[in-house]
Amino acid sequence: MKRRKSVKKNQVTISVIKADIGGYVGHSASHPDILALAERLMDQARADGVVVDFCVTNVGDDLDLIMTHYRGNDSKVIHRLAWDIFMAGTELAKKLKLYGAGQDILKDAFSGNVKGMGPGVAEMTFVERKSEPVIVFAADKCAPGAWNLPVYRIFADPFNTIGLVIDPQMHDGFKFEVHDLYKDRDIVLSCPEQMYDLLVLIGSPENYVIKNVYKKNGEIAAASSTQKLAFIAGRYVGKDDPVLIVRCQSGLPAVGEVLEGFAIPHLVSGWMRGSHYGPLMPVARADATPSRFDGPPRVIGQGFQVNNGKLVGPRDMFADVSFDLARKRANEIADYLRRHGPFEPHRLGLKEMEYTTLPQVLDKLMGRRKRKK
Ligand code: 13P
Ligand code: 13P
Ligand code: MG
Ligand code: MG
Repeated sequence: MKRRKSVKKNQVTISVIKADIGGYVGHSASHPDILALAERLMDQARADGVVVDFCVTNVGDDLDLIMTHYRGNDSKVIHRLAWDIFMAGTELAKKLKLYGAGQDILKDAFSGNVKGMGPGVAEMTFVERKSEPVIVFAADKCAPGAWNLPVYRIFADPFNTIGLVIDPQMHDGFKFEVHDLYKDRDIVLSCPEQMYDLLVLIGSPENYVIKNVYKKNGEIAAASSTQKLAFIAGRYVGKDDPVLIVRCQSGLPAVGEVLEGFAIPHLVSGWMRGSHYGPLMPVARADATPSRFDGPPRVIGQGFQVNNGKLVGPRDMFADVSFDLARKRANEIADYLRRHGPFEPHRLGLKEMEYTTLPQVLDKLMGRRKRKK
């Protein structure tokens, strides 16, 4: 396979590109024909040498294309492949009259990179280690800031990750690259030294999202998709439903430390109509079917051993009894929050609301008052 000049020998790239191209039924899942189509097209791309390996998966109504290759981040070839698959999937979704067919496809023509065109992208490029365990997380019914809390816990909180305390290779801590969603700038913070500064920012996940995590020597450890659809389109199209890639073990958090970051179903914005706070429930892929009030929000974790670019896996990491309690808690929290009905803070604050009738209601009321005069 041809390598791009900028990509060093032995550097493999994992690209996870995702989009909601239509839901079945409503926004609750992906149609098996859409998954089968994506699988078939990816299979062809592998046979043609475009990718080394792939895994097609879904969380709720979001289709995830997990790809390995030697073309580096932001490869036009890889982005085009994903775009073409989403376009073909959208055609099929329209034919099947799936819900919100082409929901995340915001542009008509491909322009070299899917960023800014609707789909979400997380990518990382690295030299494969002797053993390379990687987990790809994908969430539905939530915003990209959903990763802030678990990623912080995984890479900066010794109460989550004992390796930060007892593994000499991790004791230095990690660097966090934070994206300012409103000002479109990146800020790099080093932990543990700048832990409090980091928390001021990422404690506000609607404004600041963790984009990448690096070892102190610059090696990539985690990469997330940070695209926020509402901003891209200048109008609400869908919730962002982000993805996250995490490398594990040998100087990085152990697989179990990474999963531990999701043991508390923390509150994220999303859920019904992208306008409510709800708990993020870690589930097996088979249970990634947000139902009650279109939720509660879900996260799946697909584990792989990367072997010379091949994706050995996936292992469905949350398909385990040790996450039963997290799921039970999530359901209890969901039930409690639901009783608030249309009241904040279950419903998002007005500024965050994506479907809002407020302007029309105000217009109507003000208009009526004017008539009374
Ligand atoms: P590493 O040697 O990869 O750091 O693994 C430690 C471990 O197995 C913790 O579960
Ligand atoms: P999705 O962003 O997953 O399509 O969900 C949209 C929605 O409105 C759910 O109620
Ligand atoms: Mg949808
Ligand atoms: Mg979705």
